Amino acid sequence: MSAIPQTNDELVREVSRRRTFAIISHPDAGKTTLTEKLLLYGGAIEVAGAVRTRKAQRHATSDWMAIEQSRGISITSTVLQFEYDGYCLNLLDTPGHQDFSEDTYRTLAATDSAVMVLDSAKGIEPQTRKLFEVCRMRHIPIICFINKLDHPGRDPFDLVDEIERELHVGAVPMNWPIGNGPTFQGVFDLRNQQVLRFDRTAHGQSIAPVKVGGLDDPTLEDEIGPTAYSELREAAELLEGAGAAFDRSRFDRGAVIPVFFGSAINNFGVEPFLKAILELAPPPSPRQVQSDGDTFTLEPTSDTFTGFVFKIQANMDKRHRDRLAFMRVCSGVFEKDMAVQHGRLRREVRMTRPHRLFARDRETIDRAYPGDVIGFVNPGLFQIGDSVSSGAPVQFDRIPRFAPEHFGMLRAKQVTRQKQFQKGLEQLEEEGVMQVLTLHEGLRSEPILAVVGELQFDVLRSRLEHEYDVETTIQELPYKLARWVDRDPAAVASMTLPSRGRIAVDSSGRAVVLFSSAWELEYAEKENPGIEFMVASLEA
Ligand code: G4P
Repeated sequence: MSAIPQTNDELVREVSRRRTFAIISHPDAGKTTLTEKLLLYGGAIEVAGAVRTRKAQRHATSDWMAIEQSRGISITSTVLQFEYDGYCLNLLDTPGHQDFSEDTYRTLAATDSAVMVLDSAKGIEPQTRKLFEVCRMRHIPIICFINKLDHPGRDPFDLVDEIERELHVGAVPMNWPIGNGPTFQGVFDLRNQQVLRFDRTAHGQSIAPVKVGGLDDPTLEDEIGPTAYSELREAAELLEGAGAAFDRSRFDRGAVIPVFFGSAINNFGVEPFLKAILELAPPPSPRQVQSDGDTFTLEPTSDTFTGFVFKIQANMDKRHRDRLAFMRVCSGVFEKDMAVQHGRLRREVRMTRPHRLFARDRETIDRAYPGDVIGFVNPGLFQIGDSVSSGAPVQFDRIPRFAPEHFGMLRAKQVTRQKQFQKGLEQLEEEGVMQVLTLHEGLRSEPILAVVGELQFDVLRSRLEHEYDVETTIQELPYKLARWVDRDPAAVASMTLPSRGRIAVDSSGRAVVLFSSAWELEYAEKENPGIEFMVASLEA
């Protein structure tokens, strides 16, 4: 193991003050607004602007691009790092498309906890449910922010109840809204029995002044109005002890969700929520790794630096026009220019030009600690899932790939743009946006795009047009399932397949059979015993 020149105390301190989290929500619940307000309270931006460009940004690769455009600052990134109250927070972006994409899974593999934003008028929505399931699979602790209390919404008891019923987890309110809709004016902190009343600021651009008081304050009824007051007293009685009943160890396992109320746009309840993140979200935790066939637990405070690549993205910044590989630091201290073992390539590589990602210009960094994300300009060195180590090569849990369910034949409208078209496809595939399969029919060979969610087609076409200046047409194909076969394409061709089954190859030359129905797949399995039809390709 290579020696790293720092004291272990420093590493222990840095790990304990790190909070790495992602925000998950159904589109429009307020993820972008809450992100912006967390940055406002964290001091990373001074004035928040309503995120007006969002509607035009539906196909943007990141919701943060909307903030970037409206704020005129550059958030060229997948992670926002900011300091608050002595803590160092890393907020990971989860893509905001309507559609569910693999990118989200990958980001959630790099996070230690998640914030789930709900719209108080809507409660649990389809995307919330799906993202929650991914968190559950990975035992990621979740903190819930019920947003838009300034709008007429559903009964708060109903919403808490719905979380429990729909997600089959415990839900514990940590604070309670005072008033609702136009009368919403603050939250009651159930653990400290404190009333927090906020003042509106112009367009919620700056921090909302807060008045702190007790429930028995004689002026409270006058201040908040008799209706809000009697509702609050009633709720406080019903909820007595709720905050205290919060079980930390169940939260750490993702079995219970603490619930907070607020209005991101007005900054109501944002600060108590940020404080709750510091208190509740766990610091980087140990991870299981494999090394030389053994599995062991690696502590973040180990003196071996390790990390893994969870995302690759091209053209994040038009000025740079390059590809960035995002690496989550899992243990030890990262130092610029250090030599590490590349697990997949089985050789030493030097980690040059590491970037921090929240800045007007990309800033190179000298050090990073567990929980941090570093960006590397990727000269083809990294793929998603690659891991590096300053000691013996390691492999973290594989990031699952999901079997594509939608297929389409994509063509460049202008033949003269063929070269850019190919380059775009290659780079977007490297990002893991989609898989490119090639179907050989007679002398022709056509690229088929395979994606998990249908909307990815629109995202791809829009990116090809804007980033590579290639207009395309797409013809959706009737296939529904793809199965990788551990044989060479010639051997696959001699298998007995249903008449509509097609054999394609992926970009690594592996054979993939495309089926139009589950029935066709069953038929192929029955006719070809001894051949495994796999939902994902085997690793190289
Ligand atoms: P998302 O990233 O989860 O998709 O949601 P985003 O923050 O973009 O918010 C979606 C809409 O909800 C936006 O309105 C935003 O202003 C609004 N919103 C966010 N937080 C609150 C809140 O606390 N209260 C209320 N009433 N609205 C909120 P929009 O009409 O799409 O955009 P805009 O015209 O307001 O910019």
